Amino acid sequence: ATERTLSIIKPDAVAKNAIGDIIARFEKAGLRVVAAKMLHLSEEKAGGFYAEHKERPFFNDLVGFMTSGPVVVQVLEGEDAIAKNRDLMGATNPKEAAAGTIRADFAETIDANAVHGSDSVESAEREINYFFGNDEICPR
Ligand code: CMP
Repeated sequence: ATERTLSIIKPDAVAKNAIGDIIARFEKAGLRVVAAKMLHLSEEKAGGFYAEHKERPFFNDLVGFMTSGPVVVQVLEGEDAIAKNRDLMGATNPKEAAAGTIRADFAETIDANAVHGSDSVESAEREINYFFGNDEICPR
């Protein structure tokens, strides 16, 4: 089915000047960018985004990293967009990410892991609405 997913290009990948290389991978895989913006997240905005991880030991480091520099948030649309994006990203820990995936090629550590992608239809809907109003999404 046609789905939408939220993608974040994280501060490490933005700092590496890899925004274009990463978006090219989405486009070459048949995903379309239907919304995009660059943001420097506040602690409140990053903490709210990752609220489900609030009790995890890595929460403070995660929020610290995600607020360390600008990010690019995008809505990607396409056939099986959620799973397709996760295949393109590779495993959360770049040390376990398959060769040729975004995290294998651009990421260094489990926090500085280059990209985020929604993990289910429900989280995609929540995450897209967390960053974008309906008038900021351009169906195509
Ligand atoms: P992301 O997909 O953005 O969702 C939560 C993030 O927490 C994850 O990517 C990692 O960057 C980060 N993280 C840090 N430590 C862990 C861990 N032990 N397990 C899962 N995620 C972690």
